[in-house]
Amino acid sequence: MIMTQDELKQASAAAALQYLLANTAPGAIIGVGTGSTANFFIDALAAVKDRIGGTVASSEASKKRLEGHGIKVLELNDVVDSGQDIPVYVDGADEINAKLEMVKGGGGALTREKIVAAVAKTFICVCDQSKQVATLGKFPLPVEVIPMARAQVAKALTALGGQPRLREGFVTDNGNLILDVHGLSITDGAALEERLNQIVGVVTNGLFAQRGADLLLLATADGIREYFRG
Ligand code: A5P
Repeated sequence: MIMTQDELKQASAAAALQYLLANTAPGAIIGVGTGSTANFFIDALAAVKDRIGGTVASSEASKKRLEGHGIKVLELNDVVDSGQDIPVYVDGADEINAKLEMVKGGGGALTREKIVAAVAKTFICVCDQSKQVATLGKFPLPVEVIPMARAQVAKALTALGGQPRLREGFVTDNGNLILDVHGLSITDGAALEERLNQIVGVVTNGLFAQRGADLLLLATADGIREYFRG
């Protein structure tokens, strides 16, 4: 049976919901990502909203969609302050490699995504097969920057061999800009992630290598394939 890309995304999201039901206790707080695949997960989560303790959203858009379903959305600070944890974070990716390192931020939510992912115990990546790559970097790497540092960060990114382009007309949920860096071939994701974080004016970069996914639920025409971080 031929499945559309949306059907594949939906299948991956449904698999994440099954994982969550099998691996978390009732009342667990769930981290929720951003994007079209995460949206399918949010829609699926609505069916079990009384079984979970609430969610932490990685963007204003996801928060709105969750609340639209009547799903409780909690502030991350309140969750952490109260000593609760987030057993599972579910999100998509723009690219993912065999080590489950990702490029994320096509939707511009990379900073909050990275923050929620950092708190979560298990990061489940949901995506269709088109996101699986041998080498990260074909998808332009998003970098969130403080507006006054845009030009100087762009220079630093160029010096590192990339071609940064300002995402026109886009402001992040945090009031910042996005530079999409073209032309990178990322062989050492963790090192580049750290290097980019050191550029003054960079808020976050979209490389999720140091904290990659723990489990990839990849939707293919032949069903869901599971990959665990090695
Ligand atoms: C949002 O900022 C991104 O990190 C998304 O997770 C990523 O772009 C995947 O989005 P789709 O599920 O829409 O492809």
